[in-house]
Amino acid sequence: MKVLVVGGGGREHALVWKIAQSDKVDKVFAAPGNAGIAREPKVRCVDIAPSDLNALRDFALKEKVDLTVVGPEDPLVAGIVDLFEKAGLTIFGPRKEAAILEGSKAFSKNFMREMGIPTADFEVFDDPYKAKEYIKAKGAPIVVKADGLCAGKGSIVCKTVEEALDAVDKIMVDKIFGSAGDKVVVEEFLKGEEASFIVITDGENIVPLASSQDHKPVFDNDEGPNTGGMGAYSPAPVVTQKIHDRAMNEIVIPTIEGMKKKGVPFKGVLYVGLMIIDDEYPKVLEYNVRFGDPEAQPILMRMESDLVDALMASIDGKLNECDIKYTDEAAVCVVMASGGYPGKYEKGKVIHGLEEVEKMEKVKVFHAGTKEVDGKIVTNGGRVLGVTALGGTIKEAIDRAYEAVSKIHWENVHYRRDIGAKALRRLGLL
Ligand code: AMP
Ligand code: GLY
Repeated sequence: MKVLVVGGGGREHALVWKIAQSDKVDKVFAAPGNAGIAREPKVRCVDIAPSDLNALRDFALKEKVDLTVVGPEDPLVAGIVDLFEKAGLTIFGPRKEAAILEGSKAFSKNFMREMGIPTADFEVFDDPYKAKEYIKAKGAPIVVKADGLCAGKGSIVCKTVEEALDAVDKIMVDKIFGSAGDKVVVEEFLKGEEASFIVITDGENIVPLASSQDHKPVFDNDEGPNTGGMGAYSPAPVVTQKIHDRAMNEIVIPTIEGMKKKGVPFKGVLYVGLMIIDDEYPKVLEYNVRFGDPEAQPILMRMESDLVDALMASIDGKLNECDIKYTDEAAVCVVMASGGYPGKYEKGKVIHGLEEVEKMEKVKVFHAGTKEVDGKIVTNGGRVLGVTALGGTIKEAIDRAYEAVSKIHWENVHYRRDIGAKALRRLGLL
């Protein structure tokens, strides 16, 4: 088989790495990929942007690609699946009408209300004045979210009413996220522990992936602004069997059935961002319609089954025949980022120490924002590397990941030093 992976971040490196391990796969193309992806066996990077849907389709037709897998949300929300299917190509993921679960927070919140799916109480506004009146009436803390896609930066958690009023102005008046801010969702602040609950579905059958937990804020102890994710681990002890069952029965199954009822069956990856309240009640923070990044890195590192089988089963409506197996080992991914991210940062810094880490067992460095210049690997984005390690226990995986991290450096590198600490605390190890 020939497989095309769309995207060029850590998630896509993990996808390419895992897909290339399948016996069925002869060749993997990555568009555009990155320096780490380019070095994987069977892989060729092609210089096509994930937003150039027509060029991706033409490339897939020309190369007779058997399966396309889309990493990021933007092409899915823009309708890449519809476009490929129309051209007779096989592609994994939701069609445009179903991808709206991530593409519009106003849609997804109203959908959850309609289906009785637990989520924070909310209202949707297209008038900043009315949004502000609502905020003043509700008080703080409160959360203001831009309706559309904002690269993970569209949700602003506000400790004071002032901050929330300012967030409305930034999103709706200054349009810091462009037309994604034509509407806002203003919602109740939920207190609890977050987890990423990710499933593969064919619109009918559902196969949950291993549980995981992300670390969104940029600094230790969850301080500072939100990022795309500074690290993740799997499994997440906060997702007990009881929470798993509730998440399936109260959230995932009603979501898949609700979409089917609306005449918009959902196929692909459904990633539910959960807030687990009092260790008991999972509520939806958001839906994503693709693998999590960085969560895909530790999850795929633990996956023993052939991922291509699961992706094809989703496309063919045969997920009832699919079982995904994992190693009992835990996996931890520490994201190494450019200093300044998620704000301004410099690119082009030479990365040292990668060869040293390549010699380590049970460690894989997934590349995100990297490129090769004159034989050297340099930084080329905010999140640069996802240093991912397996371990017999979560503690062992954390220690191994940080041992690898300590060998890698570049000017002004930044990473969190507490990835996995929540799991250790929960297990009474910290
Ligand atoms: P979202 O883009 O909706 O996933 O939000 C990004 C992050 O903001 C989440 O991972 C949470 O950390 C935080 N967040 C979003 N909504 C809420 C909420 N209602 N209550 C508390 N924190 C939230
Ligand atoms: N790690 C968060 C996301 O993929 O949206």
